[in-house]
Amino acid sequence: MAGLGLAGRNLLTTLDFTPAEVRGLVDLALSIKAGDVRPDLARKVLGLLFFNPSVRTRMSCESAMARMGGSSIAVTAGKDTWQFECREGVVMDQNTQEHVRELAPVMSQFCHAVGIRKSELITTSSSTATATGTYEEIRGDDFIRRFAEFSDVPVVNFESNTYHPLQGLADSATMVERLGDPRGKKYVLTWAWHLKSLPAATPHSQMISAANLGMDVCVLRPEGWGLDPEIMGATRERVESLGGSLSETDDIAEAYRGANVVCAKAWAGLDYYGRFDQEARDKEGLRKDWIVDEAKMDLTDDAFFMHCLPVRRNVVVTDGVLDSPRSAAIQEAGNRLWTAAAVLAALTGAA
Ligand code: CP
Repeated sequence: MAGLGLAGRNLLTTLDFTPAEVRGLVDLALSIKAGDVRPDLARKVLGLLFFNPSVRTRMSCESAMARMGGSSIAVTAGKDTWQFECREGVVMDQNTQEHVRELAPVMSQFCHAVGIRKSELITTSSSTATATGTYEEIRGDDFIRRFAEFSDVPVVNFESNTYHPLQGLADSATMVERLGDPRGKKYVLTWAWHLKSLPAATPHSQMISAANLGMDVCVLRPEGWGLDPEIMGATRERVESLGGSLSETDDIAEAYRGANVVCAKAWAGLDYYGRFDQEARDKEGLRKDWIVDEAKMDLTDDAFFMHCLPVRRNVVVTDGVLDSPRSAAIQEAGNRLWTAAAVLAALTGAA
């Protein structure tokens, strides 16, 4: 099997990889799923560091390591571990006990790759939240980037404030499975109402997942809930280089019309960061119009429905859509396993 040439690389966002490299990972994932390729990660160890809860990311990566003959060590930061620091020159006389300057090279001696989930927004509730810095400060994903700087082994972003690349790769694999050649197909990423202010990491990576396939990508969101403009710009450049397009609208019917894929996700308005009570008040009126339901799906070109899970039933999507053959959500979650396997094999030099 020819290697993908990705050994030693970090995966913080797929925008750091060329479209051909991304496609190589997707194809490898589908080959592993089909049983055509069996990467050997015997005696390799993955370290998993979680600052936030997870089902799919943790279990898919641990399962992938076990199936390829390797093993994994998962810890919950701050509960199983010390409290970590990443700022430079800080006087550590408060709650943090260990700096990434020591943590990363130490973990590099125990593990062949490290995955980190750290999002300041992930558990934020609109009514009770307090902001951690400004959005401009948290969008830099300082902890993961600093850890990667001092790590001697590949670092995989398990979801930060800005990106969730493993979700994006699983979404790409699902669309390739369902559509064959996704070029020229219409992909709609729709905002959904949610009681919490959730990070935009997943919708960013979902938008990029369709861009990486050269699709016609439409971001459907109310005014005030646009995605990160810099990430939109990089995504537009990526998708146009592949012959696709990126548009944005708040016209629900127009967006659904002719869609081949509808992917739903709730995310916080970036301009509202730190003003969560205000956001909750301003979005209350959007609650009923933005749910994915049967009537909206009937406007599409027989689109299938995607969601990264977990999903709040009858808030983001109706039971009628989620339980119908139109839903690809379970297949999409299953592909987290195969895309994780592909990434871990490629970055550790096993594929
Ligand atoms: N979609 C996703 O990342 O799921 P978890 O939060 O359960 O890992």
